[in-house]
Amino acid sequence: MSVQESSVDRDVRCPVVHFEVAPEREAGSYWEMGKELREKGEVLFNTLAQGFWVLTSYDTVKEMYQDGDTFSARVITAWNPEPHARMIPMNIDPPEHIQFRQLLNDWFSPSAIREHRENHRAICRRYVESFAESGSIDAVAEFAIRYPTEVFLDFVGMPKEDTEFLVEWVDEFFLGYSGRKPGLDASGAKKIKDYYQENLDKRRATPQAPRERDFIGHLLQSTVNPDGTGERPLSDSEVVDICFFLTIAGLDTTRAQLGWLLHHLATNPDDRKRLLDEPGLSVNAVEESLRYHGQVYGDGRVLTRDVEFRGCPMKEGDMVYGLASIASRSDKFEDPDTFKIDRKPSAHLGFAAGAHRCAGAHLARQELQLALEEWHRLIPNYEVDSIEPLMERGAQLSLLSLPLKWSVSDAVGD
Ligand code: HEM
Repeated sequence: MSVQESSVDRDVRCPVVHFEVAPEREAGSYWEMGKELREKGEVLFNTLAQGFWVLTSYDTVKEMYQDGDTFSARVITAWNPEPHARMIPMNIDPPEHIQFRQLLNDWFSPSAIREHRENHRAICRRYVESFAESGSIDAVAEFAIRYPTEVFLDFVGMPKEDTEFLVEWVDEFFLGYSGRKPGLDASGAKKIKDYYQENLDKRRATPQAPRERDFIGHLLQSTVNPDGTGERPLSDSEVVDICFFLTIAGLDTTRAQLGWLLHHLATNPDDRKRLLDEPGLSVNAVEESLRYHGQVYGDGRVLTRDVEFRGCPMKEGDMVYGLASIASRSDKFEDPDTFKIDRKPSAHLGFAAGAHRCAGAHLARQELQLALEEWHRLIPNYEVDSIEPLMERGAQLSLLSLPLKWSVSDAVGD
């Protein structure tokens, strides 16, 4: 039983439960646990760590995202109210938030992302070509994390050779983030931040050309006016905190999504065949995966004031955990527990909502669509190569590994 009854020594007026977010479990267990949680109520109190509120319904989670005056993003890990690393723009509340968000909006706009499409396709193609004739691969370790990392580095104008250690540090960060190996998030964060500080110093000494391909250069030459006292350049620590957040927001999430999507297609040959016959459906398949495989299990916020929320007395400083993944499988959606490959794009919360809605959504979508196209071009038929159940990681849900195999005679070149 993953959700236990619990008790707490304060007035909460809602079911009190205890559930863990860290343990590795059989793949899909956290979404199953989400159903159990939803049945208990739309607002719960979890006695894990210092204790925090849990929102399970679509409307409560959406309200949390949209009401930044009440639910501040200053802290976003519900079980760790005192984080060691600042993330920009994530931890900045409106109205200052927009000053930092604008620095990303043009860089990550649909047209900017489209310009890189063929370049990113070439990166993806190189990966798939490198293993297509081997007949098997751990798709999470060897593809789903490496390809988006290299695309990201290319997109922000950093050397692709850095893929190796960024993959390692991001892994380290997330092992600690969920609490599976306490402390590792601090060491992972430090390594990533030091990396960007070094690159920033190098760029100050020798600016990169062309500037429109150099994200750090773009930040160094940008100005902000967060307190309304006049435009000023970003400080070094602001530049580093932006790059750090992009790294932890953009790489592990895409790895997880791609892993779940390939797993679905490996285990549902009818959907795979449909996609091979109608490649245009990759847009719907990606969107449906974002809804159905909500791998950002939930997002955290901190209460800015005492408030009565759905009848529950929440106090200033309390933490809240909105289960976005469970909200995206609620009855707001027709047949919510079925992956429908041709579902029309829906108002899922896979990229959240409100001011902090994912800034990298267009990049992520393009990466996922390219992955499907390039994978299926060379490897149209594949299956899971394991008799043991696959396992998932908690908090930011990802398959730990995805062993896939295929017939090499099926795998074709151009
Ligand atoms: C499938 C992949 C992805 C998923 C599911 C995803 C999901 C999310 C979610 C749920 C949030 C909101 C968090 C919150 O409100 O607490 C978010 C924010 C954000 N994401 Fe993503 N993300 C993905 C890929 C990316 C990529 C590739 C990038 C950039 C490289 C990125 C950059 C960001 C940024 C900068 C924010 C914060 C925006 C702000 O505070 O204004 N994400 N993402």
